[in-house]
Amino acid sequence: MTINDNVMAAAGRSACAPSRRSDVPAFIVMDVMAAAARLEASGAKVIHMEVGQPAAGAPASARRAAAAALQGGYLGYTESLGMPSLRARIARHYRERHRFDLDPERVIVTTGSSGAFILAFLSMFEAGDRVAIAVPGYPPYRHILASLGCIPVGIETRAATRYAITPEALMAAHREAPLKGVLVASPANPTGTMMGEGALAALIATATDAGIKFISDEIYHGLDYAFPAQTAAALSDDVVVINSFSKYFCMTGWRIGWMVAPEALVRPIERLHQNLAISVPTISQIAAEAAFEGADEMELVKAGYALNRRRLTEELPGCGLDTFLPADGAFYLYADVSRFTNDSYEFAKRVLAEAHVAITPGLDFDPVDGKKFVRLSYAGAPADMEVAITRLRDFLTRR
Ligand SMILES: Cc1ncc(COP(=O)(O)O)c(C=O)c1O
Repeated sequence: MTINDNVMAAAGRSACAPSRRSDVPAFIVMDVMAAAARLEASGAKVIHMEVGQPAAGAPASARRAAAAALQGGYLGYTESLGMPSLRARIARHYRERHRFDLDPERVIVTTGSSGAFILAFLSMFEAGDRVAIAVPGYPPYRHILASLGCIPVGIETRAATRYAITPEALMAAHREAPLKGVLVASPANPTGTMMGEGALAALIATATDAGIKFISDEIYHGLDYAFPAQTAAALSDDVVVINSFSKYFCMTGWRIGWMVAPEALVRPIERLHQNLAISVPTISQIAAEAAFEGADEMELVKAGYALNRRRLTEELPGCGLDTFLPADGAFYLYADVSRFTNDSYEFAKRVLAEAHVAITPGLDFDPVDGKKFVRLSYAGAPADMEVAITRLRDFLTRR
């Protein structure tokens, strides 16, 4: 029996037995974090490359605005769709960064992009609907879809298509059994790969023609090194775009993100949000609006990631980790470890125990081929990355 089975068996004897829909797999990276924390509690200095979390804090402008709001004393609910000034500021961001006018009425403030997925899936799909996602991909997509009664349909991606879903692959899955939606991320997690504007536009056009609803997870926008990331919102008014302050603005713990929705979805999402959450924490909204003024500071943080990316891609091949998926954006390297192991879970456990570097097994992102891959996050401080390179070299060359 696995630990999970034991928990379920014990719970089965309780009057509060958990529902089947709550039986989603654990997010393995959180388990790795917990194991790393136990090691640290015993005095070890662990380098954290497991979690996709910036080492830097929120921009000073955001922290100042939050401190002033706390001094003010009163923080009430806001409108369910978000503070109008923040919605307007987000719309202005699209003009400044992507050169197109976005109606602030289509912007909805959410509790991180995680909160946005729940609102998007509930407002767009019925229970039983099939929704395509890329494999490898961010695990909560499939777990949230499944817990809401939808059917995640994994589409294996390939090197030849830069690990992105193509129109052909989408239509092949649609022919097997009709799809109601497709979700893509560019830059993607765990691969760091990006879709160019042409590839994104072609996929949106194919999905729209086939009546497949399109969701674009743009949480890693701003963190692009190979070429500028394209927003799906500029290519169509009839797609849902999800974004967050967690990554570029280093605000993971503030739990704030946003969506850009087609007009027809705004009121349904508003009603859902009124009932599910009332509103997003007010202090986080105030901080997020001010965060846009801290872009210079965030560009310096991004330059640190770019340096980490360069150092790791220069040094890891010499340690035997020489096969990465194209690291176009975000802050991840998805590395093939099949020359060392056929069980990336055991491999990651040994790297943590012996080298004190926490990395995430690919199984979190790809239940089949993931056993050959690990994900390394380079969102940490450049000095920590140098230590990680030395430790990984010692570990890998000892094998
Ligand atoms: C691809 C992707 N989407 C969404 C999220 C969720 O982020 P948040 O809820 O903090 O905005 C993450 C977090 O790592 C992610 O990698």
